[in-house]
Amino acid sequence: MSKSLFCMLFFLATICMYTSTAQSSPSSLKVGFYQRTCPSAEAVVRNVVNNAVTRNPGLGAGLIRMHFHDCFVRGCDASILLDSTPGIPAEKDNVANDPSMRGYEVIDEAKKQLEARCPQTVSCADIIAFAARDSASKLGGINYVVQSGRRDGRISLKDDPDQNLPAPFFNLQQLQKSFEQKGLSVEEMITLSGAHSIGVSHCSSFTKRLYTFNATHPQDPLMDPRFANMLKSKCPSNNAPSNVDPTIVQDFITPNRLDNKYYQNVLNKRDLLTSDQSLMSSPTTSSVVKNYNRQGGVWANKFGKAMVHMGSIEVLIGVNGEIRKNCRIINN
Ligand code: HEM
Ligand SMILES: *[C@@H]1O[C@H](CO)[C@@H](O)[C@H](O)[C@H]1NC(C)=O
Repeated sequence: MSKSLFCMLFFLATICMYTSTAQSSPSSLKVGFYQRTCPSAEAVVRNVVNNAVTRNPGLGAGLIRMHFHDCFVRGCDASILLDSTPGIPAEKDNVANDPSMRGYEVIDEAKKQLEARCPQTVSCADIIAFAARDSASKLGGINYVVQSGRRDGRISLKDDPDQNLPAPFFNLQQLQKSFEQKGLSVEEMITLSGAHSIGVSHCSSFTKRLYTFNATHPQDPLMDPRFANMLKSKCPSNNAPSNVDPTIVQDFITPNRLDNKYYQNVLNKRDLLTSDQSLMSSPTTSSVVKNYNRQGGVWANKFGKAMVHMGSIEVLIGVNGEIRKNCRIINN
């Protein structure tokens, strides 16, 4: 064999070896990550979620929101699930999550069943992603394929959500910036906001729009006055002293159906949050709202795609992070 031919073969073999090593230590999420290591992983989560959401549809809303609040803070690493430890309050104690976040027990139940079948194999971050997908399927008939292989983080800090989650009083520019910082487009922001067609909001998230909007308008002129009156009958003007903070369904048309009625509500000024109405504040974004209102199928399809994209934000992969034994506690 000539020296140059030998060199070429050696060179190719090296590339080959390099490529196969790269495969065994994955650099991205994949569909069916647990196919060999825990084949029933996705079925177990689906079963637990179906049972929970059948009992209480609000848990499905909670699980979809949980995936969002997890992914926007330190990436989709299940940092939202970690309990506070002495001296170190965690994300779940932030006002963005406490007391409104729902569904922690559903994740615990899925994790318990998975640990019994395949110990320390399925990450809590993947369980959240599966649970959000299964909730969208159950509440909206929206079916999409979720990638997995996320690993769990070891850090959760109470103040992190402040800088990373959009607030309900955000205007369009602030919302756009918040999503852009996570690599999501304005269109994806509008698409994902459609999740506000299920679940509830506490009065405190929007009472300002009803009673103390600004110096000249006590009530937000961008809210249907009849809708505002109805909300005033349910929400006290000042929640703080009495500690009363009722919850209001976000979509009065189909409260427990994940559908495009959210966009109809926004068009009719019958939405709860300033951030919802902000989508109407530019011609480009309001035309997306109008399109989604007309074409539910288009929205549903894009919703699935945007959820998958959101589920890939700053994920821990390969040798990074860990597979927690208990979703509430980091491993020793
Ligand atoms: C665009 C920026 C967003 C803002 C400012 C925002 C804000 C909020 C607020 C303030 C609530 C009510 C919390 C309460 O008072 O109980 C809420 C509820 C909810 N959000 Fe969002 N959200 C946004 C985007 C999203 C996204 C991207 C998703 C998921 C894809 C989502 C899913 C939900 C769900 C399902 C609920 C109802 C939760 C339940 O009933 O437990 N939101 N959101
Ligand atoms: C109050 O809000 C309205 C409607 O957005 C606006 O036109 C008006 O300028 C605002 N007034 C003040 C004092 O900010």
